[in-house]
Amino acid sequence: MSLDSDLRGAGRMAARVAGFGTSIFSEMSALARSHGAVNLSQGFPDFPSPEWIRTAAEQAIAADLNQYAVSHGSPRLRQALAAQEAAAYGLDYDADREVTVTSGATEAIFAAMLALVNPSDEVIVFEPCYDSYVPGIEMAGGTARYVRLDAPGWQFDPAALEAAVTPRTRLILLNTPHNPTGKVFTPAELETVADLCRRHNLIAVTDEVYEHIVFPPATHVPLATLPGMRDRTVTISSTSKTFSLTGWKIGYAFAPPDLSDAIRRVHQFVVFCSVTPLQEAMATAVEQAPGRGYYAEFLADYATRRDFLYSALDQAGLHPQQPQGAYFTMCDVTHLGFADDVAFARYLTTEVGVAAIPPSAFYHTPPPQQLARFCFAKNPQTLQAAADRLAAWRR
Ligand SMILES: Cc1ncc(COP(=O)(O)O)c(C=O)c1O
Repeated sequence: MSLDSDLRGAGRMAARVAGFGTSIFSEMSALARSHGAVNLSQGFPDFPSPEWIRTAAEQAIAADLNQYAVSHGSPRLRQALAAQEAAAYGLDYDADREVTVTSGATEAIFAAMLALVNPSDEVIVFEPCYDSYVPGIEMAGGTARYVRLDAPGWQFDPAALEAAVTPRTRLILLNTPHNPTGKVFTPAELETVADLCRRHNLIAVTDEVYEHIVFPPATHVPLATLPGMRDRTVTISSTSKTFSLTGWKIGYAFAPPDLSDAIRRVHQFVVFCSVTPLQEAMATAVEQAPGRGYYAEFLADYATRRDFLYSALDQAGLHPQQPQGAYFTMCDVTHLGFADDVAFARYLTTEVGVAAIPPSAFYHTPPPQQLARFCFAKNPQTLQAAADRLAAWRR
């Protein structure tokens, strides 16, 4: 083999990453760019982030808070997060021993898998699931066991959940509010999961990054609030979605001391610490958000966007489902007769000029339906442009 082909080939890649392709998010965004499509595929806001939080970051940089932070997070931010979790959910965490700041929820999930899963352990995940979960489980040497959330209501079969438990099951990974379906797990569903964890002595890792985007009458209930769950749950969330600052990558994990200690052992050798001035700015954000009425306004804006996109998709005959939480709308496009959801997403991007995500990317075993996921974390002009193109297509 020549040096050149050796450099390009997969031969030098470690086996543990050889199976990971380019993510569908990068692929659809590239296709949207090359065809001038309105990009409702990737899940980040295109509207301005809060100015008062950006100013806090500028001030932190100007005050020269620019050296390494404490590895497990700025004390001020950990304190603010602990106070918020207590006020919102009645969950008391010790900011010193039970709160860890990470580089996004993505790092917290990855660190939790490396910290808690032994080679040959099994991890139960609900599918469809966020794309970083299974690579995290597999890089820890574990194996994912899937339990299906069934369209259109996205319920799971409790018997299927029970059947997924084996002597090797170590933990269960749960995302609520859920990407891509918009499902918010109900208290009864959470109790089914909690009961399973208690009976089989499982750890739960929850991804709650959309906790502030829950549309009434749905309510967000952290699994850790259920009886017996606080001491076996790692609750992961992030400031990315809550403060529309996804590029800052400030996430965090609440967990009892032994689980926090394990996560911190990974975190210290992956990044050591998250970005210092941005942690300070996020401390300001978490401290001041309730007093500024931030969360209510934030949710009201999302409700308007959700309703606008639902109506545009409905009028275009795309059979949308109104989400209970998060910022995605799922459509069932089976009736349009495409070969698969990827073919539909490509068609919509290149021919109609609106980019969506084909949700098969979130499945181990794709579902019988053909689905499409549209993101409504967009400014009104972007959503209007998408609505205009969809209307022109279906006229
Ligand atoms: C379910 C879910 N978890 C985690 C993340 C990543 O969060 P962060 O930006 O904090 O890494 C996302 C982002 O899209 C997500 O949808």
